[in-house]
Amino acid sequence: MEYLVVAAYAALALFSLLFSYLVWSRFATKPHNLPPEAAGARLFVGHLDVVSGRVGLPHVNLATLADKYGPIFGIRLGVHPAVVVSSWELAKELFTTYDASVSSRPPIKAGKHLAYDHAMLGFSSYGPYWRQLRKLVSVELLSARRVELQRSARASETALLLKDLHARCGSGRAMVDMKELFGELSMNAVLGVVAGKRYSGGDEAEEARRCRRVMRDFFHLAGYFVPADALPYLGWLDLGGHERRMRRTAKELDDIVGEWLVEHRQKGNSGKDFMDVMISVMEGADLQSHYDVDTIIKATCGNLISGGTDATAVVLIWALSVLLNNRHVIKKAQEEIDKHVGKERVQMVQIVLATLLQSFDLSTPDDQPIDMTESAGLTNCKATPLDVLISPRLPPTLYT
Ligand code: HEM
Repeated sequence: MEYLVVAAYAALALFSLLFSYLVWSRFATKPHNLPPEAAGARLFVGHLDVVSGRVGLPHVNLATLADKYGPIFGIRLGVHPAVVVSSWELAKELFTTYDASVSSRPPIKAGKHLAYDHAMLGFSSYGPYWRQLRKLVSVELLSARRVELQRSARASETALLLKDLHARCGSGRAMVDMKELFGELSMNAVLGVVAGKRYSGGDEAEEARRCRRVMRDFFHLAGYFVPADALPYLGWLDLGGHERRMRRTAKELDDIVGEWLVEHRQKGNSGKDFMDVMISVMEGADLQSHYDVDTIIKATCGNLISGGTDATAVVLIWALSVLLNNRHVIKKAQEEIDKHVGKERVQMVQIVLATLLQSFDLSTPDDQPIDMTESAGLTNCKATPLDVLISPRLPPTLYT
């Protein structure tokens, strides 16, 4: 009984301290040149509802606020003040003139659980480790040889997609879920360059699905701003179970990338893919960090593959959805592509879309508009399949 009384007093004292801190931080004198703060902040959680995903999608909520408060405004995410910028001019100024001030990234639960405790480039904060790794990735991924490899990976993946789609059509037309196919295409394109892998159908279909699901879960969960990120004193509580799901996905990603690392070490360094390059560069590297070499390699390759797969697939999926809801643009694009565009002039998203439009007539079942419902996450994927009716518009020899 005595124990309960002491615990109750301790909880009360903690609550009073917390309450005083929140009231103080709300009304303490603040610098004058802050952007306007959006109304509707609640005492403890601030504007957490805007980004939590519980009430609407975060980017839609933020866009509504931007319409009201303009291109720069403030919100509070629990105890953290944040600034929301939504004009490209301001974003450009921030990432050029004020680069050093906006390049840091706060530690968050997704970075801890999903990104090898912030070892992934996309989660780590500005500093010597980020700079060294960023340089390595830019130099090695953008070297003339690797850009050439990426170009041929894109071209061969696109050619395989065309061949597959043409075969599905037989002598007529076929219905395909382009969401699935774009996911596989972009995963294989980036997997080849980063880890020298390619998943085809048959025995590997299951492994490919698993890998794609893990990449998708990664991006879905990475977009969660969990309660403990906003209210650090709740750090010991996993409200909603997001952190448990993050740990599970991180383990699956680590299993996949870890297996590739073992394979690469066993077969010796053939110098062909980015993982080979990282293994040899890391041997003599003096990276200023506390992470071990294997963690850095797995984190970087895992980041490139998850980032490359998901971002590219999501852009392709939305681009085709918007086109299908504006069929007159497809017609115009097909005429222009037929007339002007050569194979060497376009990048991944453009080359895939242009090739698809050039090679197939596209429509939807019963000519229904595409459902544009979005799902939450660091990238906002289409929530439903992208079912498209395709029929070839070129002579059969051009699909082989
Ligand atoms: C259409 C395709 C893509 C889009 C729209 C896109 C978008 C973005 C954006 C907006 C960021 C900045 C995130 C931030 O500031 O926190 C980013 C970062 C990043 N992206 Fe992409 N991305 C695409 C393709 C790729 C590909 C193909 C790869 C890898 C092969 C990749 C790897 C990365 C990495 C590693 C970062 C973190 C960079 C850093 O911390 O400096 N992305 N991407």
